Amino acid sequence: MPDKTSLKSSLQSLRQLSTNQYNVLYQVTRLLNAPVMHESLIEEALDLVISVINAERGIFVRYNLKSDDFQIIAARNVQKDQIKDVALFSSGVLQEVIKTKLASLYHDVQNDPHISQFESIQIQQIKSIIGVPVFYHENIWGVILVDSIKNRQEFTDENMEFLHFFSSLISLGLNRIEHLDKLQTENLQLRNQLEAFQNIPKMIGESAAMKKLSALIHRVAQTDATVLITGESGTGKDLAARAIHTLSQRESQPYLAQFCGSIPDTLLESELFGYKKGAFTGASADKKGLFEVADKGTFFLDEIADISMALQAKLLRVIENQEIIRLGEIQFKKVNVRLIAATNKNLKELSQKGLFREDLFYRLNVFPIKIPPLRERVDDVALLANFFIQKHSQNKITLTSPALKALQNYNWPGNVRQLENTIQRALILCDSNKLDAEHIIIEDEERKFDEYGGTLRQLEKQILLKRLEKFKGNRTHTAESLGVSVRWIQKQLKKYEEHEK
Ligand SMILES: Nc1ncnc2c1ncn2[C@@H]1O[C@H](COP(=O)(O)OP(=O)(O)OP(=O)(O)O)[C@@H](O)[C@H]1O
Ligand SMILES: [Mg+2]
Repeated sequence: MPDKTSLKSSLQSLRQLSTNQYNVLYQVTRLLNAPVMHESLIEEALDLVISVINAERGIFVRYNLKSDDFQIIAARNVQKDQIKDVALFSSGVLQEVIKTKLASLYHDVQNDPHISQFESIQIQQIKSIIGVPVFYHENIWGVILVDSIKNRQEFTDENMEFLHFFSSLISLGLNRIEHLDKLQTENLQLRNQLEAFQNIPKMIGESAAMKKLSALIHRVAQTDATVLITGESGTGKDLAARAIHTLSQRESQPYLAQFCGSIPDTLLESELFGYKKGAFTGASADKKGLFEVADKGTFFLDEIADISMALQAKLLRVIENQEIIRLGEIQFKKVNVRLIAATNKNLKELSQKGLFREDLFYRLNVFPIKIPPLRERVDDVALLANFFIQKHSQNKITLTSPALKALQNYNWPGNVRQLENTIQRALILCDSNKLDAEHIIIEDEERKFDEYGGTLRQLEKQILLKRLEKFKGNRTHTAESLGVSVRWIQKQLKKYEEHEK
């Protein structure tokens, strides 16, 4: 924190400020106190400062003591262009401010033996520099530096006082700046996790196929390798992705998911990468992308086959360089994210047909995991069915063996999800403590009939008897529901009796 005497001298020097400078300070305080704070506000404040002290460029950096380097918070020139490289500024002066913790003004730097040898000073033809420290809780947090070049005037002491005052305002606003960043990240994480993490059921299954799958998931969870999960719809790809995260060392870090199917390209891009204020109409404030929010954690890209070629190229860069760039931004940000992607399509085939980038396919397919369809793990049907009965019913309900047989004989094109739906429906129809075959109504009847091996007569008999059972022998209701007459039903039943004789 600037001590009392320096604050006092700052205040005294305020008397010397021009109306113009007062106005700027006033605007800066308003910006720093805006109800919604975003990064662009700091750039706006810096623009004001550059213009009022007639500087060429300005930079506001955060200092990292551990790595002894600087991270740009905002860097602008007089044309209000963003500058992305801290090396374009005098690192010598930045270091000096960090060391002395004092504001310093350098005149005629080209002839100053102390700093004229710095490369940036020569290359940028810098004439005059002011550097001021920014404090946070007694510690140095960063530096604000402005410079002016040959054809501009030299800075004055008054300029330095002004900048010093500006840095004090920033110091006071730092709490908000730091909190803003943390809150934004937390908010996005929580919102995404609400969608992605709604009660994580365990992966049920003891078939050989599931045991193999579980071993693979455990193994890959110990690494940071990109995983491509494939499998038909409803096989448990979401579940597998979450399991990988939960079993990994990133468990306590964020897990975020984005569904990529049938979402307009621009919307998906802004979700994934974020944007800078003004990047497009409607971008009224900076927005963090989910990749940034998932930093240090795991990011799950669901239905990856559906993303556009343009986004595929951007994704490739994330994987190769571990860096992202917000829409409308010129500065890259490093991110450390473990990627998991899923699809129910054949990505390899798509890439061979030129419908998916081949290089991206190989980048994603580092560790492929295929989840087998439920029909290939019939052994798990009983376990899963009982699990879903328990999940959806408070009562103790048992599955009769004809019911189990019916479930095991079906080929489950919608896999575990369809089984869960079927059980849920059966529980509604079942009003005893036994869940029987009659309660099991599979929504995809046509498919069932397709695979029906018997004769039309046998099928007719089966349907009629089942429907009678459903209506507890009431022929009028059965006739109504089948669209036939009661007489027809009576005739059929008679026929069946005669056959059995
Ligand atoms: N092995 C399993 N044990 C318990 N529940 C499971 C299992 N596999 C899937 N489920 C459940 O089935 C449903 C579908 O699973 P999930 O959403 O993971 O499938 P998916 O492969 O991602 O499907 P889609 O391709 O349609 O997105 C979920 O409710 C999930 O909890
Ligand atoms: Mg899914």
